[in-house]
Amino acid sequence: MSPDLWPAVLEIYAQGIATGDATFETEAPDWEKWDSSHRRDCRLVALEPLDEETAERLVPMGKVTVLGWAALTAVSSRSVYRGVAEVSVYVAATARGQGVGKALLRALIEESEANGIWTLQAGIFPENGASIKLHKSCGLRQVRVRKRIGKLGKAWRDVLLFERRSSKVGA
Ligand SMILES: CC(C)(COP(=O)(O)OP(=O)(O)OC[C@H]1O[C@@H](n2cnc3c(N)ncnc32)[C@H](O)[C@@H]1OP(=O)(O)O)[C@@H](O)C(=O)NCCC(=O)NCCS
Repeated sequence: MSPDLWPAVLEIYAQGIATGDATFETEAPDWEKWDSSHRRDCRLVALEPLDEETAERLVPMGKVTVLGWAALTAVSSRSVYRGVAEVSVYVAATARGQGVGKALLRALIEESEANGIWTLQAGIFPENGASIKLHKSCGLRQVRVRKRIGKLGKAWRDVLLFERRSSKVGA
């Protein structure tokens, strides 16, 4: 994800927030806030055209369509948790249900292991069936239900905590 793709990434984030079932966030942040709150490595975009070489050539000309993005947030600043990160994955409304999310999450897992991350976690609302299926199919398993853990607007919401422990990193 190069910074010049931020407007498209932001738009996709806003579409996800608008579903009401993606996140406790109610508005998309500006670049500075997003940039400082996510890990610098493991920032991925799914582009059309999907061929990497063509996409790289077209990105500077603004001739690619961003279909989705995935990134990681550190869960703690404590050293013991340096290999633990929280997944974010968002697909453009018009591109959902076509395998883009799965391609992004698979690539994110690979990239996270290449960067020394041993545990990925995801907090998912029980109402978000697509996200539950996506994370399960990429090897994350539900470890906990966090009952009425936070409020979105006026409603207390449950969050399912999913987790994947790498068998390669920190084996
Ligand atoms: C959740 C999200 C990232 C999934 O990405 P996607 O590209 O639509 O998903 P994929 O097409 O790769 O499908 C992944 C799995 O989910 C299933 N799925 C996709 N859309 C679904 C839907 N609307 N309802 C139920 N299952 C669905 C697919 O069948 C597939 O399951 P399988 O692996 O068992 O075959 C996407 O829907 C999205 O961006 N939603 C809004 C933002 C959001 O909720 N982000 C996640 C926050 S935790």
